[in-house]
Amino acid sequence: MNTTITINTDITSGTISRHIYGHFAEHLGRCIYEGIWVGEDSAIPNTRGIRNDVLEALRNLSIPVLRWPGGCFADEYHWKDGVGPKEQRKRMVNTHWGGVVENNHFGTHEFFDLCELLGTEPYICGNVGSGSVQEMQEWVEYMTFDGESPMANWRKENGREKPWKLKYFGVGNESWGCGGNMRPEYYVDEYRRYQTYVRNYGENRVYKIACGPNANDYRWTETVMREAGHLMDGFSLHNYTVPGGFEVKRPAIGFDEAEWFETMQMSLYMDELITRHSAIMDQYDPKKRVGLIVDEWGTWFQVEPGTNPGFLYQQNSLRDALVAGLHFHIFHRHCDRVHMANIAQTVNVLQAMILTEGAKMLLTPTYHVFEMFKVHQDAEALALHLETGDYSVGGEAIPQVSASASKRADGTIDISLCNVDPNSEALIALRLRGLTGTSEVSGRVLTHADMNAHNTFEQPDTVAPQPFDGVTEISAEGLSATLPPISVTVLTLRF
Ligand code: AHR
Repeated sequence: MNTTITINTDITSGTISRHIYGHFAEHLGRCIYEGIWVGEDSAIPNTRGIRNDVLEALRNLSIPVLRWPGGCFADEYHWKDGVGPKEQRKRMVNTHWGGVVENNHFGTHEFFDLCELLGTEPYICGNVGSGSVQEMQEWVEYMTFDGESPMANWRKENGREKPWKLKYFGVGNESWGCGGNMRPEYYVDEYRRYQTYVRNYGENRVYKIACGPNANDYRWTETVMREAGHLMDGFSLHNYTVPGGFEVKRPAIGFDEAEWFETMQMSLYMDELITRHSAIMDQYDPKKRVGLIVDEWGTWFQVEPGTNPGFLYQQNSLRDALVAGLHFHIFHRHCDRVHMANIAQTVNVLQAMILTEGAKMLLTPTYHVFEMFKVHQDAEALALHLETGDYSVGGEAIPQVSASASKRADGTIDISLCNVDPNSEALIALRLRGLTGTSEVSGRVLTHADMNAHNTFEQPDTVAPQPFDGVTEISAEGLSATLPPISVTVLTLRF
């Protein structure tokens, strides 16, 4: 069946917050150390310890917000160990991630420096699991208090005179699991207590994010929203795409069509999760003031053979690119409730944008989707009606094509399209309702004949965006196009 798409160019369903294109970088494996931070004395070119090649590549993504320091690490992290002269900083064991020694050389000052270099907003996750209320209170004071106070004075002694601007602050991470194994009834009381001391100093206004559910734990959402919905600005949701499940996990490369299908199907599950958690949130927050913050999402495969199992280093293929595209379309559809999302993780961990090996660096297929889709950041989501055929494997079916459209402030329309079918092109008839006149159309496509295609340090451009030449007709009503099998395409229409 051909795919028909009607875009109502005069009906918007809300703004696609740029924060949906957020990132997450944890002290895990080689994400922070090696991937981002190499230290001032490294032979790898760097700016105050942050590697320049990675900086430059990440700048090109216009990363709107960066979550740090974890993850599970956040609930073991004691921020005071990570400030002051580096040689005096306490060394600790990163018990959760590989038992390696953490020298605390990348701490609060280095994180804010990274954010400033990237032009990104910081999102800090505080320690509820093994930290104290006082420790959390003092961290916020250290970062944001302007004037005379013990923590502000200490910050100044450590070289930063003016406070930083900090909006996003998480009160615990996965408090139902690695962040303390709490029941929702217990966490919600802890949340109420801890958040009380997360103060707004001067003009700084903190957007408080409560720990939300693991995937489909609707009881968690019900309990925490009921008892504390009025005391939070954001509520997190974590869900990973893990073919085979966490007990098994499957390799990142070398998969067959059944695994391809399973991965696509699991990605689409995000839609059900958001719909059902939102329905509960609507009961306690009908005006949708509280944002659903999907601050961990992405693929989770077996680690690359021979690498530390605690480092979660995996390859990234065209399959990951499709996973990213499908997720973004779902987030766009729910942009009235989903105010932020943060992919796990930025460099060298899980569904990364960038992989590094010593001084070498490569951009993954996922990177390219973030780069191609950045045109949607802060654009108006357009109402879209899609009719597409099925892509079926083993008696199960999913829609062949997924699409999303948005309008920029200057009227330019961007349309992203995913064809998940490895065996068939998708013939698209796209109608633009509410517009007259022909448009100038340009586009780029990310695709490859091999579903396992990926980039290596030897061949870093195997999967990279190419100009799209599949537009077959442009008329006053819209256009026709042919999408290659397994492809992510972005079309830009200027009027
Ligand atoms: O992203 C890896 C880990 O996954 C995070 O530390 C944790 O929050 C989640 O379980």
